[in-house]
Amino acid sequence: MTAEPLEIYLEQQDVERGLREDVRAGLTAEAKWLPPKWFYDSRGSELFEEITRLPEYYPTRAERTVLAEHASDIAALTGAKTLIELGSGSSEKTRLLLDAFTRRGGLGTFVPLDVSVSALLASTAQIAADYPGLRVRGIVGDFTRQLDRLPTGGRRLVVFLGGTIGNLLPAERVEFLSAMRTALEIGDWLLLGTDLVKDPSVIVPAYDDAAGVTAEFNRNVLRVINRELGADFDPAAFEHVALWDPDHEWIEMRLRATRPMSVRVLDLTVDFAAGEELRTEVSAKFRPAGIAAELGTAGFTVAEFWTDPDGLFGVTLARAR
Ligand code: SAH
Ligand code: TRP
Repeated sequence: MTAEPLEIYLEQQDVERGLREDVRAGLTAEAKWLPPKWFYDSRGSELFEEITRLPEYYPTRAERTVLAEHASDIAALTGAKTLIELGSGSSEKTRLLLDAFTRRGGLGTFVPLDVSVSALLASTAQIAADYPGLRVRGIVGDFTRQLDRLPTGGRRLVVFLGGTIGNLLPAERVEFLSAMRTALEIGDWLLLGTDLVKDPSVIVPAYDDAAGVTAEFNRNVLRVINRELGADFDPAAFEHVALWDPDHEWIEMRLRATRPMSVRVLDLTVDFAAGEELRTEVSAKFRPAGIAAELGTAGFTVAEFWTDPDGLFGVTLARAR
């Protein structure tokens, strides 16, 4: 079967307005920051796929191990008719679930949602070709804003993998989980992948690899702003910084100006002192009790919590109550 044309919840003009608002808010703040969704143009999506194959980047492999072990359980427990994936990217690991649902029968529709059009075009075409009989409805959308528009009807399973929930700030996370619960019916399911707290000597290299792919990925946000808003960032003049914050238990990604700079963007002149840092992303790490508590507050009951044998990554199956 061929994939259906992408459904657009997010028009190019909304994307540009959002980028302008975020750039204005983040670059005029006392401590400069940018939200992470702007990493993912087509080059950003490619660089992220490259990250998932790095020797230092354990989350993808660990999560894949859990899914391989428990995909059949997930299919049997949920009996889902519709599988919705948020921030789906390549949906590569999701194939383990699609395989299990195919063996079991009963899954009718797969709905990947992402801001990255290039990632969705590639994933929906390949999945539609590889899973005949599965309806594939790709959605271009923003999971922080548009959960109220998810397809309804039939038992649904929403999957949110890759630890991407950790890229939301704590207040955004609360809002996300509450919007997620509102979008679901009692009895619908949520499968949530979370990277777990562990020794920082394991975590930090995953965000600061020897080959410099993560550094390129981080600097890509500046290229996106240059291209979309006609800014004049010199990406090469920013160095990649990945810091473990033990109080928040998150990795913080920053771009550090290696010299004083004045950047023109929108109607702004943004000055950077030498050594000044711009925060581009956090990647929070979780503890099992914290995950259960956050899900509980949002109106979910945890049914299962699994990890890989090394205890690196957690996958939680929860149900809307
Ligand atoms: N789920 C994949 C990809 C994780 S990377 C995996 O586990 O490997 C994060 C993905 O979320 C990217 O594909 C990115 O384009 C997407 N994304 C980031 N912010 C988003 C947002 N606000 N709304 C929708 N998709 C988003
Ligand atoms: N969801 C991924 C994570 O937190 C995203 C990611 C991986 C990322 N490496 C990154 C984001 C480097 C910014 C910079 O693990």
